Amino acid sequence: MKELKITYTDTDNKKLPTYKDYNTSVWTIADALKVKTDDLTTSMPLISYDFPTMDESIMVWDSGALRNIHGLTVTFKGWYVMWSLVANKVDLTNKNIYTEWHNRNNVAYIGYWYSKDGVEWKFGGRLLNKSADLRPWEWSGGLVMREGKENIVDMFYTSVSGEPSESVVSVSSGKILADKDGVWFEGFDKTTEMFQADGVHYANINEDQYFDFRDPHPFINPNDGQVYCLFEGNVAGMRGSFSLTDKETGILPPNYSVDPGAKYGAAAIGIAKLKSSYADGDFSEWEMLPPLVTALGVNDQTERPHIVFKDGYTYLFTISHHSTYSGNLQGPDGVYGFVSKDGLFGNYKPMNSSGLVLGNHSSQPYGTYSHFVDMEGYVQSFIDTIPASGQDYQNPSEYRIGGTLAPTVKIELKEDRSFISEVLNYAQIFAQKKYLDNYTYDIRS
Ligand code: FRU
Repeated sequence: MKELKITYTDTDNKKLPTYKDYNTSVWTIADALKVKTDDLTTSMPLISYDFPTMDESIMVWDSGALRNIHGLTVTFKGWYVMWSLVANKVDLTNKNIYTEWHNRNNVAYIGYWYSKDGVEWKFGGRLLNKSADLRPWEWSGGLVMREGKENIVDMFYTSVSGEPSESVVSVSSGKILADKDGVWFEGFDKTTEMFQADGVHYANINEDQYFDFRDPHPFINPNDGQVYCLFEGNVAGMRGSFSLTDKETGILPPNYSVDPGAKYGAAAIGIAKLKSSYADGDFSEWEMLPPLVTALGVNDQTERPHIVFKDGYTYLFTISHHSTYSGNLQGPDGVYGFVSKDGLFGNYKPMNSSGLVLGNHSSQPYGTYSHFVDMEGYVQSFIDTIPASGQDYQNPSEYRIGGTLAPTVKIELKEDRSFISEVLNYAQIFAQKKYLDNYTYDIRS
């Protein structure tokens, strides 16, 4: 298989903005007015009501392949590996599935899977030891092979509690091991807290009781070789107190009036820079930087932000919901994108003019969510709720809850535009790099 190389070429040799001197980019109300649900080039395929499930005893949602710090999906000793947010089903007959699914965040833990072909997955159980948990719930993040080490991996995640309401970006580290029968992990018995909402660059609970602060995505910026971490945040400031200027509205159509509710939308794609030593596996010190993109007046949540470097462009992807759009704006649940020609700290424009990259079709508005775009444009997501044909997606007897991964799809990234081009297998991942594939297994005593 060909090995994918990340190319970042500063073709014009111009001086790119750095983390010290960049401007936050804005997703404007005018941009969001261009969002069109059901444009076929930016829509998820319809999911069959008879979709297969990966494991009937658990519910699965946000997931991600084992990757390296450059963003390439990797295999380990011939195994594809994946983490998922998981909740154990209490009632295996699925009679209570609606309630269990909608309460899943309050019992979420990180589980893992392994596979020989990237299609058929075997569930391996918990990834972190319970002793690692500083708070009861484990929410999203990413599983990353440590650069320069043979089998050290870091599970970046969000350590969350309800009472008190806390959400801390965290990491737990350990070893990945494999033999011919499967994959397992050792270590992962403690957690390092990385950073939390500071109320200065990002809203904290005192400013916004509905604040979001989670979903770490660390990576090396190919342009300066430094480790950064993206995350979901909100714009700092008191909830609802924002005034929306031309900067946030963009150029509005004649007679368009901004809905008064718009000021409650304050999503931000956050970024922090690692100050402690990556080589030593020390993730304890970070510098909080201003957001890369804000959505003031547009949307209150830009979740699971992640990044793709391709053909000299930097693509920022994030997932968002119909229900978190502000004021009278509309858009489907799905993945949105922003693209810069000037590196990580350049000016980002919404992809496809609107920001929408892949949304659910209006006949399956809650069909899929938590899309993750890899370096080659393969997009993973989970199945949420699929209505029976022609049935009402709001009537519980007429839909099926997913809790399993959707068919992977491929998108082509062409400068500032994207096009869906392929539908692949359910839960399929593709590896761009293989670690120790020709390794002969030790005999385990
Ligand atoms: C996205 C998400 C993440 C969060 C997790 C909680 O689906 O809301 O932002 O970490 O799910 O389950």
